[in-house]
Amino acid sequence: MPALPTDYPDFGLTPAQRREAVYGHYYEYPGMDGERGEIWCYSDRFSYAPGETATLLVSSTAPSFDLVVARDGAELTQVFAESGIAARWQDTPDQSSVEGCGWQATFALEVGADWPSGAYRLTLTAAGRDGRPILCHHLFVVRPKPGRKPGRILQVAATGSWTAYNTWGGSNHYQGITGPNRDQFATTVSTQRPWCRGFVALPAEAPRVPVEAIVPPLAEPRYPHMEWAFASGHSKKYASAGWASYDGLFFRWAERAGYAVDLATQHELHFSPEILEGYDCAVFVGHDEYWTWEMRDAVDNFVERGGRAARFAGNFLWQTRLEDEGRQQVCYKYRARAEDPVYRAADPSRTTNAWEAPEVGRPGALTFGLNATAGVYAGWGGCLPRGVRGFPVYRPEHWAFSGTGLYYGDVLGAESHIYGYEVDGLDCIVRNGLPEATGVGSPPPGVQILAMGMASLVEENQDVPPGWLNNEDAVFTAETLYGEATPEAIDKVKRGNGMIVNFAKGKGDVFHAGSCEWVAGLLRRDAMVEQVTKNVLGRYLGSGSVT
Ligand SMILES: [Fe+2]
Repeated sequence: MPALPTDYPDFGLTPAQRREAVYGHYYEYPGMDGERGEIWCYSDRFSYAPGETATLLVSSTAPSFDLVVARDGAELTQVFAESGIAARWQDTPDQSSVEGCGWQATFALEVGADWPSGAYRLTLTAAGRDGRPILCHHLFVVRPKPGRKPGRILQVAATGSWTAYNTWGGSNHYQGITGPNRDQFATTVSTQRPWCRGFVALPAEAPRVPVEAIVPPLAEPRYPHMEWAFASGHSKKYASAGWASYDGLFFRWAERAGYAVDLATQHELHFSPEILEGYDCAVFVGHDEYWTWEMRDAVDNFVERGGRAARFAGNFLWQTRLEDEGRQQVCYKYRARAEDPVYRAADPSRTTNAWEAPEVGRPGALTFGLNATAGVYAGWGGCLPRGVRGFPVYRPEHWAFSGTGLYYGDVLGAESHIYGYEVDGLDCIVRNGLPEATGVGSPPPGVQILAMGMASLVEENQDVPPGWLNNEDAVFTAETLYGEATPEAIDKVKRGNGMIVNFAKGKGDVFHAGSCEWVAGLLRRDAMVEQVTKNVLGRYLGSGSVT
């Protein structure tokens, strides 16, 4: 890795633009590129079985477009191309993020019976009104064929988080144009809209969220990824979710490393959990924040019966509900107790709040060993901007670290910056130099804490004012867990940690490196991060020499 620069990167924005990049609300909408024109595409579903037909819904200022479909695996492999497909501009409702675009079908794409499971990138190009081409990307998943798959991995793409962060149409689970003043985030978001710019493909220079700089003394918090998004015309959330920033990095690495990987979406976990039955090892990566109750049931049952779950991901935070056969995702989040009707139901367990909220009562640790509310921010803004870049190792003798040469106290993945930008943790105490779960937050019996770093839920500093993250999430977490955001409650929640844990459950086993950025170690070919990943996959596939 090259030496770190000694200041934040500069993308040519004025101070006012830098502020707008972080605090403003900018998003993709039809007509945004003005006279030049646009082309947009979505598909009727997130995933298809081989041999099914994908319905593409396209709105274009040009009367025709060219389509190229390529599988995005170890290599980008073209599987389909057609030129001169007729299209037209289609009206889009104002609240398309919530209701869906409702466009008419444009093209029926036959998914080949021989197309291997994976992610398929669609590139649509057409003539812009200024003579230069216009372009958009779309992506869908081809599911594996049914049946037993010895030796194969099933990777489950974090499509709940993609949907939650998708900025297309103006509203997502973070910001929005809903409500009387058109300034509220959407508690319901639709899958029936294009992906925002940067979710399918990104240039190599796109910054990741964790800051790659030695932050100068007394520097105020900055968020380079949002500055780059603003400067380059990408979604404000391009680095927060999506295939390009997260899931795709694992899938490509695994294929290149020689693993046989199949791909599914979280919709499969929800609607057809039997998909897991064919596999010994299921993998979850990246920023993986939104799950339904049913998706958790699928993983819990899989592990109880002997499945192995490897989660190299962070921020297992929100319960969602799916409506309209999965075309809408519901999450009231910070407004759950005020607005989610389920909170007032006889059984409030499906309230779309944090998993650790008492009314939900299903801490994430019961499934994956760690809780989002015990972890959270690291390595960006005013949350540990000078913190560890990797996982400090406490139990180097564990099988997962075999072949790495790691010692007690070494930091795994510092060079490739795998720790951040959101991490999951557990309440613990350190005894004889080793962390142990205290029992708070429903840690699984026998959980071993292999590595642990610090995390923070507030931008708090005696010299420097808070930035964009501020203390909002600490206030919310204090209210959620303790009923009221008193100074004492905030003090209890504002410090967290991020961990690597391993535990046996039922007949199965769970390994969880609770960090969004694990995939950065694979992207940047960090030998020790690759070795740990291979140790886990090898053991979980039953083919490894690691015992
Ligand atoms: Fe998150």
